[in-house]
Amino acid sequence: MVKIGAVELPDFPLLLAPMEDVSDPPFRTLCKEQGADLMYTEFISSEGLIRDAAKSVIKLDIYEKERPIGIQIFGAEMDSMLQAIDIVTATGPDIIDINFGCPVKKVVCKNAGAGILRDIPLMVKLTEAMVKRTHLPVTVKTRLGWDHNSIRIVEVAERLQDVGIQAISIHGRTRVQMYKGHADWKPIAEVKNNPRMHIPVFGNGDVDTPEAAVRMRDAYGLDGAMIGRASIGYPWFFREVKHFIATGEHLPPPDMATRVEAARRHLQMAIDWKGEKLGVLETRRHYSNYFKGIPNFKPYRSKMVTSDEASEVFAAMDEALEAFADYAFA
Ligand SMILES: Cc1cc2nc3c(=O)[nH]c(=O)nc-3n(C[C@H](O)[C@H](O)[C@H](O)COP(=O)(O)O)c2cc1C
Repeated sequence: MVKIGAVELPDFPLLLAPMEDVSDPPFRTLCKEQGADLMYTEFISSEGLIRDAAKSVIKLDIYEKERPIGIQIFGAEMDSMLQAIDIVTATGPDIIDINFGCPVKKVVCKNAGAGILRDIPLMVKLTEAMVKRTHLPVTVKTRLGWDHNSIRIVEVAERLQDVGIQAISIHGRTRVQMYKGHADWKPIAEVKNNPRMHIPVFGNGDVDTPEAAVRMRDAYGLDGAMIGRASIGYPWFFREVKHFIATGEHLPPPDMATRVEAARRHLQMAIDWKGEKLGVLETRRHYSNYFKGIPNFKPYRSKMVTSDEASEVFAAMDEALEAFADYAFA
């Protein structure tokens, strides 16, 4: 069993990574049904939260059926972060996660996200203050370092542990790498192998096959895998990894009817949550993965990603089901 404060997770848990515009309540519902053990919200701006900005506040929406769930926040200003943590604590998640890994320019230029990897003392100071401010377990998600020459993740993780975080998730890339190249899990294993570390260390980056998850556990000795892109439009990934871990065998991929049903539910949940306009818009990015690999699918996908009316998107899904009901997914 893996413990984050009072939160108990099974051995080698699978975590749904926080992903902006992706890991919202509709998508999390599907991932939870398929076996995600711990999920995080999209990152939420501390500045936005304390300004009561609608775009930030709606991201606090969490539901009982999603537990255990972590809310992720980002920022680098002590006052804003402390006020934000009060707001998040009052919302009642199981965990609060601090984003020290976002590589996007508008975030790092304010020293937030991965920007803070250039100022480790500030990172530690902020974390310590946040841990003291809330009764909830605080976790951190970060990258290996700012760039290749400044990878000090073993020391950083230990210092964050020493000020009270209860788990750390590490994306095996530097900020400078953004999403290029391959994630390097070796430095993450070094964090785990540090004899002073006693909190769970989760690996992240490029877990895109069940075999990769098993490698992360067996060859790198990590406590769990955090999964991002492989789940976008493919929530079944969690179930497939779990099945492979349990049996050493691959589950057959979901058939067309299953995919259409998930896409329909996804869209309906998004509409129920955010209204038709945003629901239709924000579900678009998932369709190419739901229906990946189907030859001559373009006309159907085009309709799904260009229609503004939900009824038209649902109709395109029904037409796609009729046309490809027997398609054998590889
Ligand atoms: C569309 C998208 C949005 C993301 N948003 C966030 C975010 O809000 N917070 C965060 O910590 N990381 C975010 N990430 C990074 C992921 O959590 C993860 O670290 C990264 O994608 C590597 O894992 P993967 O190879 O499994 O996708 C985002 C990634 C993507 C692709």
